[in-house]
Amino acid sequence: MTRRSSHTISTKQRSGYFHLKKQSKNKRDKERNGDVQNFNENLAVSQLAEVFAISLGKSKECAKQIGLAASLHDVGKKLIDPAIINKPDKLTPEEFEIMKTHTNLGAWLMYDIPGDFGKMVSMVCKYHHEWHNGEGYWKIPTSQLPDYIPIISIVDVFVACLSSRSYKDAWPPERVLEYLEARSDTQFSSHIVDSFIHLIRNNKEARAIFSEANTKGDDVM
Ligand SMILES: [Fe+2]
Repeated sequence: MTRRSSHTISTKQRSGYFHLKKQSKNKRDKERNGDVQNFNENLAVSQLAEVFAISLGKSKECAKQIGLAASLHDVGKKLIDPAIINKPDKLTPEEFEIMKTHTNLGAWLMYDIPGDFGKMVSMVCKYHHEWHNGEGYWKIPTSQLPDYIPIISIVDVFVACLSSRSYKDAWPPERVLEYLEARSDTQFSSHIVDSFIHLIRNNKEARAIFSEANTKGDDVM
């Protein structure tokens, strides 16, 4: 019987190798799918924020800047531990405090962008979780912040509710609109909620973007 060479791969080793290769491919596919989902959601937030800004009377140029800044609102999440970002259960208070720092980290990442746009995108990163009544992450009422903050904030919540997350399925559109209505005068001003719901129900361009983002393919009445 010949002695097995040190270079020979046993059947067990080979099956172990293929198992690891498959695991690694599944991990890569999962990460790629997550990146594609993030890209699509950010694109929807950006496009909807631009259309919403125009409907509120912003100039085309200003609305474009708002849309571009909106696409970067969650860039700080890239620096948060993926185990927290992708956690399927409710975050612990400690984990939630870490999650909140994605706003500061995003503002820090955008700090070197020069000019007015740099200032805008830093503000968006830092304050997109602020509430109308001052109960957001940093307890600053949105009336004390630039008016593009609540525009991006409501669009972000709308797209997030329509999308699946590690801890929830995608919601049907009517449930999302009811959720936003219930946050009138608390998370958002009634003006922002009414204007946004009107846009989603009536504006063709917004509805087209919303249909693309809406993974369930449902329609709103
Ligand atoms: Fe965020």
